[in-house]
Amino acid sequence: MTLESTAGATATIDRELVKQLTERELARLAERTPESRRRYERGVKVMPGGVPSSFQENDPWPVYLERGSGSRVWDVDGHDYVDFHNGFGVMCIGHANPTVGEAVKARHDLGTHFAAPTDGSIVVAEELVNRFGLPQWRFTNSGTESTMDAVHLARGVTGRDVILKIEGSYHGHHDAVMVSVYPPLEALGDRDDPRSVPYGDGYPLALTELTRAVPFNDAEALAGVLAKLDGQVAGLIMEPAMMNINIIPPVAGYLERVRELCTAHGVKLIFDEVKTGATIARGGATRRFGVQPDMITLAKAICGGYPGGAIGMTAEVAAAIGDGRVHQYGTFNGNPLVMAAAEATLTEVLTEEAYAKLESANQWLLGRCAEIIDRYGLPCYTEGLGAKGCVIFSAEPLREYRDYLTKVDGELATLAWLFHMNRGVFMTPGVEEEWTISIAHSEEDLEQFAGALEAFAKDLTGG
Ligand SMILES: Cc1ncc(COP(=O)(O)O)c(C=O)c1O
Repeated sequence: MTLESTAGATATIDRELVKQLTERELARLAERTPESRRRYERGVKVMPGGVPSSFQENDPWPVYLERGSGSRVWDVDGHDYVDFHNGFGVMCIGHANPTVGEAVKARHDLGTHFAAPTDGSIVVAEELVNRFGLPQWRFTNSGTESTMDAVHLARGVTGRDVILKIEGSYHGHHDAVMVSVYPPLEALGDRDDPRSVPYGDGYPLALTELTRAVPFNDAEALAGVLAKLDGQVAGLIMEPAMMNINIIPPVAGYLERVRELCTAHGVKLIFDEVKTGATIARGGATRRFGVQPDMITLAKAICGGYPGGAIGMTAEVAAAIGDGRVHQYGTFNGNPLVMAAAEATLTEVLTEEAYAKLESANQWLLGRCAEIIDRYGLPCYTEGLGAKGCVIFSAEPLREYRDYLTKVDGELATLAWLFHMNRGVFMTPGVEEEWTISIAHSEEDLEQFAGALEAFAKDLTGG
C-alpha cells in the first residue's frame, strides 16, 4: 500500500469534467470498435447480453477478441492491446504459451478424455501438495465447483449447516455463496450482525439464511458471531486477501487469529485461493501469509488457460470423501488435457524465478503508478501482491467491504478504465477489479499502462 508515499496535495475533482471526459471516452471506444458492435448485435440474438457469462458484459458493448500472443491481445477491429485483464488473472503465463501448448498437443494425440484416472492427475496433485502443504487433493472444472465442494465437505465433516463468509466477497455462483456478494448500503444491516443478502434472484431464502457474513479484517467481530452461533457453524470461506473489491490485504495478525478462532470452535477454515493460488506466490496466499487452512480452493491460473480447479484438504476432511460420506464427482474432473496444461504450467512455467519476475515487474508498475498519483495529486492509491495490482480510487485505504462501498469513487474508476481501453491497454472490466501481469510483459508493456494512467491524470487535473 503506497498511500502514505503520496506526498503531493490532493487535486479537487471537477464532477462536470469527469462527466464530459467519460462521455468523450465512451464515444471514442464506440467509434474504435464497430466490429465488436456488429458481434454484439449478432450475439445478443442468441445469448443474453451477447456474452457467454454476465461478467463479460460491458458498455456500450463488450470488446470481442480474436486472438492473443504473449502479453498482447487483438480485437475483432484489428486493434492490439497490452493485456492486463489476462482473462480474470488466468493468463499470467502469457497467451499461447508455447510450453503449455506443446504439452496439450502431445496429450491430445494420446486421447483427451477417459473419465478414468491418468498419471497427469497424480503429478498435479503431488505438485499442489508441495506448493500448498495440504496432503490431499481432488479436481473440479471451475472455481465455483471447487468452493461448492468445499462447502459440502465442511458441512459433511462437521454435521453442521451454517457457513460463514466475508461480507462483499465472491466465491462463484452456487447457492451457499451467492450471499452478501455486493449488497447495497441500505441492505447491509448491523456491522456486527450483517444481513444475509441474496446476490440476485433464484436462491431459496432458507439456503440464503444458512450463510452468514462477517466483516473482513476484524477477528473480534468473527469471535462475536462464532460465540453466538457456537456449535452451528460448519465452515468459514474467505479469500486470505480480498481480490474482488480491488485488493485488500489482511492486516497483521488477522489470519492467525481467524485460524485460532476456527480451531477453537471446530469450524473448517476454507481459503478460497481461486484468484491468489497461482498468481501471488508459489504456494499462494497460504504460503505467503503462513497460515494453514483446512481446505484450499483453486481454479483460474493453475490450469494455464484450460477450465479446471482443485480442492486441497487435510487428511481428516479427505476421509469423508474416502469413506463415502461426502460425494465429490465430475465427469471431467482431472481431464487429461487440463492436467497436461496444469502440469506444464505449474512445473515448467510458473517456477520460483517466474514468481520473482512477476513480483518485481509488478512492484515496478505499482511504483510508476504511485509516482503519477503523487505528481498529479489524484485521490487514489496503489495496492498489489505477486502478479496482481490496482489503483484504488479512494483517498483512504480500504479495510473491508463497507469501506469499499462508501469510499471508492466509481466514476473515476470507470473513467480510468476507458482511458486504458482507448490507449491500447486491455483492462479487466468493472471498477472493483485488478490487473494481472504475465511473465511475457516487458517494461514497455508496463510503461504503456502507466502512460494511459498519466493521460487520465493530465486530462482530469488540467496538468
Ligand atoms: C475468489 C473466487 N472464487 C471463486 C470464483 C469462481 O470461479 P469460476 O468463475 O471459475 O467459477 C471466482 C471467480 O472470479 C473467484 O474470484
